[in-house]
Amino acid sequence: MRVTILAIVCLLTISCSNKYKDFVNSEEEYQIIPKPVLLETLNGQFLLDASTKISGTVELVNEGEYLAGLVGLKYDISDSEGGDIILKLDESIEEEEGYTLAVSYDKIVVAGKTSTGVFYGIQTLRQLMPIAIESSENLAEITIPAVTIKDSPRFGYRGMHLDVARHFYPVDFVKKYIDLIAMHKMNTLHWHLTEDQGWRIEIKKYPKLTEVGAFRNGTIIGHHPGEGNTEEQYGGFYTQEEVKDIVKYASDRHVTVIPEIELPGHSSAAIASYPNLSCFPEEPTEIFADQGSKKGKEIQAAGTPKLVYESWGVVDDVYCAGKEETFKFLEDVLAEVIPLFPAKYVHIGGDECPKGNWKRCANCQKRMKEEGLYDAHELQSYFIQRMEKFINSKGKSIIGWDEILEGGLAPNATVMSWRGTEGGITAAQQKHDVIMTPNHSCYFDHYQTEDAKNEPLAIGGKTTVEAVYAYNPMPKELGPEFQKYILGAQANVWSEYMPTTDYVEYMILPRMSALSEVVWTSQESREWGDFKDRLQTLAERFEVLGLNYAKHSIDE
Ligand code: ACM
Ligand code: ZN
Repeated sequence: MRVTILAIVCLLTISCSNKYKDFVNSEEEYQIIPKPVLLETLNGQFLLDASTKISGTVELVNEGEYLAGLVGLKYDISDSEGGDIILKLDESIEEEEGYTLAVSYDKIVVAGKTSTGVFYGIQTLRQLMPIAIESSENLAEITIPAVTIKDSPRFGYRGMHLDVARHFYPVDFVKKYIDLIAMHKMNTLHWHLTEDQGWRIEIKKYPKLTEVGAFRNGTIIGHHPGEGNTEEQYGGFYTQEEVKDIVKYASDRHVTVIPEIELPGHSSAAIASYPNLSCFPEEPTEIFADQGSKKGKEIQAAGTPKLVYESWGVVDDVYCAGKEETFKFLEDVLAEVIPLFPAKYVHIGGDECPKGNWKRCANCQKRMKEEGLYDAHELQSYFIQRMEKFINSKGKSIIGWDEILEGGLAPNATVMSWRGTEGGITAAQQKHDVIMTPNHSCYFDHYQTEDAKNEPLAIGGKTTVEAVYAYNPMPKELGPEFQKYILGAQANVWSEYMPTTDYVEYMILPRMSALSEVVWTSQESREWGDFKDRLQTLAERFEVLGLNYAKHSIDE
């Protein structure tokens, strides 16, 4: 009798494990974005339940706990090779961010050259799991289709920018944004922290930057130049403690945060706080320029700190390039900013700096004469090169928008090409590193359909998901010897017309999904129809995550 029961139990176990071992998966089970380099589908399914053990070494505790957190389990470092799911480092993987993933019915192994590779293997594993794992309820059983994957990115720089100055977003949303970056195997948040419309980072030596510069007394209503003003105070800033918390959160997700402290233009919120930084402290900054109703420094003279620009566009009042005081201020600011960010880079802006004030400023003219500068572009170049020297002395490198090419490129600068691709091509030919963010393909503040009138208000333009997908960051004009200077690409998310976090989600999703494949997957392996098919599944994941994604490329 005992023997019979044992035999029945054995048979049941074998047929049960055979069910998982021999399971025939459909193509639908393998909808991964960005598309991996090599993916071989196999028969079989791994069953993950409460008894599944996830193990690995102590170096991978961050990644192990991340994976365990996704499925409601624990990461075990006591027996690193003894789990059902094993995370490990593998020196034989060539690419720095590369990984392999092997799923069979009885084991999963995620291996990376570095912990970053392991993290990306986990992101792939996540997309192989049922969409319901994204909900807060833990699933009792999760099945994962068998597969072997070998994967690594095409480009080393895979970025998303976020302008938190035109509109300000809370810490929790910045973290959600970082989660999205990580989910898409992108690796950089370019955090645009200072602007005409608000200064968003605490600087202890200059408290007025946040007391005054972080708040404006209104915001235009509607599309620039606007149909009136809200007349409501608007603003906010991140304390240095909050910045540290965000940087750590990003680092745990293998995302580098690059701060942008904009200079010499887009600086009027700082000037509102410390008017001497202007060529003409006594002249008003028009803070609602197009309707001419308010004058910044006039209001300050009357003792009311209602000084920060309330409209969009480009402001004439920029940092004075002649006064030493300006450089002392910026160096003090950067001396506080740099230690908060482990990133190799500091972005110094450099775009859209009107030169009118410099041309009529005695201090700026004196500087030009003393330095033998021929025109205002050379004065801008002097400004950038001087700041570069300081930043280099702190062990960091600068990134600037492509205007920094004008008047001579700073020696070690990386160029962010935004006015099309020409700036990037020129910089690469001058053997400077380049990040491609051309407005035609990478500006996620543009409309995403022809049908702009039925869309939420946007700045203009049109960049569809398909247009993002069609972009190849490697310019065909560049010969092989210059191609290595193209580090990658980034989407820019300027927030003039994104007053809420829901709005931001709508503008980035799923365009960032398209961009993630542009920067990860080889050009030959990409095809719009195939991507669009896989996007349908990712959109279901967005749905469960409660994200407000745009549906133009999603089938009904
Ligand atoms: C930019 O869009 N002004 C860089
Ligand atoms: Zn000046």
